[in-house]
Amino acid sequence: MAEFTLPKNSRITGKSRHYKADAGANRVKSFKIYRYDPETGQNPRYDTYEVNLDDCGPMVLDALIKIKNELDPTLTFRRSCREGICGSCSMNMDGKNGLACTTAIEDVKGEVRITPLPHCDVIKDLVPDFSHLYAQYASVQPWLKTATPTPSGKERLQSPEDREKLNGLYECILCFCCSTSCPSYWWNGDRFLGPAILLAAYRWLADSRDEMTGERLDQLEDPFRLYRCHTIMNCANVCPKGLNPAKAIAETKKLIAERAA
Ligand code: SF4
Ligand code: SF4
Ligand code: FES
Repeated sequence: MAEFTLPKNSRITGKSRHYKADAGANRVKSFKIYRYDPETGQNPRYDTYEVNLDDCGPMVLDALIKIKNELDPTLTFRRSCREGICGSCSMNMDGKNGLACTTAIEDVKGEVRITPLPHCDVIKDLVPDFSHLYAQYASVQPWLKTATPTPSGKERLQSPEDREKLNGLYECILCFCCSTSCPSYWWNGDRFLGPAILLAAYRWLADSRDEMTGERLDQLEDPFRLYRCHTIMNCANVCPKGLNPAKAIAETKKLIAERAA
């Protein structure tokens, strides 16, 4: 088995801090949270925060907001909608990628260990750098592309059956829980597009109104961009929206095989 050594400045050797819950708190849960600020030049560390669950909402994001508001304003994380729609609060909780706003604290036994999504550069604490993923997203041109002009004053119509083909594809919130849990993406993320982006690419291949299928398949037909998926299925297992990027990838491979036949 391959062994890796973390660069010196990535090792978790920073001195931990422990924030106690209020005296008198009866239901206390500990959150052990990854802390890293590249601007300080210090190594990452874990800080532990004790949270009084009797005075906290039910989700992991509620605890993070409480910690930031009441214990440590320097803790940094992304969030917006608080209802699983914006994809901002994706992180690794208890070893599994997910959304902090839809992960119940009570579903995590014992101490809740929180780290940023794996295999990304860290901007600060729980905020990963998605620049590369966004550039890959742009590369698949995720918008309707047509060759024929729209008849003036008309919409491009779609039958209910064709619209149904987009179910399970359009709901992606670009949280990247899937791509950052994909071993193939960990090792080949520079060239493999990974599950989130390939799902987005297939969303347009499956759209009856799009007229650039051939060009889109040309762009994807590449040993790295598409064919690094080995159907390990981590992507489908972690997707908080219940989507199946592996299936979308298989469908894309099928389209390429069919046009070659
Ligand atoms: S099925 Fe493919 S894309 Fe999904 S985790 Fe596995 S290798 Fe990655
Ligand atoms: S497919 Fe699921 S896990 Fe992947 S980015 Fe979209 S919503 Fe997130
Ligand atoms: S805050 Fe929007 S998905 Fe969690």
